[in-house]
Amino acid sequence: MNRRKSSAAAPKRYALILAAGKGKRMKSNLAKVLHPLCGRPLLLHVLNTLQAREFQKKFVVVGHQSARIRELISGDDIEFIEQNQQLGTGHAVRTASAQLKGLSGSLLLLYGDTPLIQSSTLERLMRARERNNAELALITASIENPSGYGRVIRTPEQAILRIVEEKDATPEERRIQEVNPGIYCFDLRSLLSGLSRLSSKNAAGEYYLTDLVEIFTRAGKKVITLPVETAREVMGINSRVELADAELFLRARINQKWMANGVTILDPATVLIDDTVEIKRDSVIYPGVLLEGATRIGSRCIIRSYCHIQDSILDSDVVVDHASVVRHSRVGKHSRIGPFAHLRQNSIIGEHARIGNFVETKAARVDTGSKASHLTYLGDAEVGKRVNIGAGTITCNYDGKRKNKTVIEDDVFIGSNTQLVAPVTIHKGSYVAAGSSVTEDVPPHSLAIARSRQVVKEGWVREKNKNANHKDQGATSERSSKK
Ligand code: UD1
Ligand code: CA
Repeated sequence: MNRRKSSAAAPKRYALILAAGKGKRMKSNLAKVLHPLCGRPLLLHVLNTLQAREFQKKFVVVGHQSARIRELISGDDIEFIEQNQQLGTGHAVRTASAQLKGLSGSLLLLYGDTPLIQSSTLERLMRARERNNAELALITASIENPSGYGRVIRTPEQAILRIVEEKDATPEERRIQEVNPGIYCFDLRSLLSGLSRLSSKNAAGEYYLTDLVEIFTRAGKKVITLPVETAREVMGINSRVELADAELFLRARINQKWMANGVTILDPATVLIDDTVEIKRDSVIYPGVLLEGATRIGSRCIIRSYCHIQDSILDSDVVVDHASVVRHSRVGKHSRIGPFAHLRQNSIIGEHARIGNFVETKAARVDTGSKASHLTYLGDAEVGKRVNIGAGTITCNYDGKRKNKTVIEDDVFIGSNTQLVAPVTIHKGSYVAAGSSVTEDVPPHSLAIARSRQVVKEGWVREKNKNANHKDQGATSERSSKK
């Protein structure tokens, strides 16, 4: 880009994305461009792709649920244009013309529902227009089932003549498989002068941006097309079926990226990794794993089957064993989680720690080398270093009104089946006997036994049986006579 910028002839570049429509065919209360695809709203995919190129300015036309859209992409260097009534793609661009007036150069124009487009393709399109001095360059794609798309009408000499929308097309035109994916690069001045010529006299009663093709060709302006090979890349999403289709395609692309970067994925068809996730090399992902949101996986981690990790950070050499759920949490180096563990709500597990099967942690901090290997609940707890938590330990953090904290200091040993009734602190190096209900703090290096003392009644069973024998002489004499 810098190379182009320094050349005097390089035109200025702007980008405009149309995202004001509701997306009726989604049958949703959520605006179409906000629907997530591999963990990211459709519109953000398009904007991320633009990040790779340099633009003087980026404009987004919003309308339906515009407040939510503005919130989602605020902070970026984006200028919003409000289109209060959605009267068509041509109308949307016309709404933007006040902001575009006076600008010159290239305008890359895309729709917010085309998330799979690659930045290299956009670069080729812009360059094609600029090198050929065309007023308009647009991408075309040939697809087997073109329904829903505008069709490309060419002259017998194969020059592009116009685009006909499906609703307005004759049966013959509908058979044309070359479609308009809606990715254009305009000469800004030509675009602005053409906009006033659009009319809404068509089947949809809308102002079609696509009519500009015919307006340009009739005026003798140069319109060129750039056919793309992979139609998938330029597919627009109008329905949930198309969304699922795109999800499948993008998921494969994401998995391939991580494999190319040195991550082993044993069965890519069953592994779902959001576009927002990062994984370091030599980690191994088993079948059926879900990695979502702002998740970061360090080097040499092993994530076994059916684990679900969301918005969490795993340091290097962590093992997450079968069917564990980790949400909004962190795990330190060389720790082992699961199988069947549940870490949630800001649990922070230190290095070389062990959280075993049927252990749930919530807002718990477990320091280096500590272990809770079986059947335990640690909620609102702070666990020091080298602590051993026995099977069946429960931090009773909730008193019916408030959540209270349990503190377990370094080198503590908690015996099995213990309840720690918070707020409570077990100080350094202490032991808690198995089966205790601890309601008071335990001082350092002490033993706490908080259970009723065992009572043994020697010979009690023999006595019981003797009494029963007296009551039922017959049966007894019969049995004793057999002896
Ligand atoms: C459009 C094209 C069609 C092309 C297809 C590719 C037109 C007239 N038709 O049809 O040739 O094959 O895309 O996917 O352009 N929008 C606004 N304001 C409006 C109307 C739409 O911002 O008033 C936005 C929508 O939010 C959407 C985009 O423009 O992101 C495209 O609109 P959509 O209704 O999906 O157009 P298609 O019918 O798919
Ligand atoms: Ca569309």
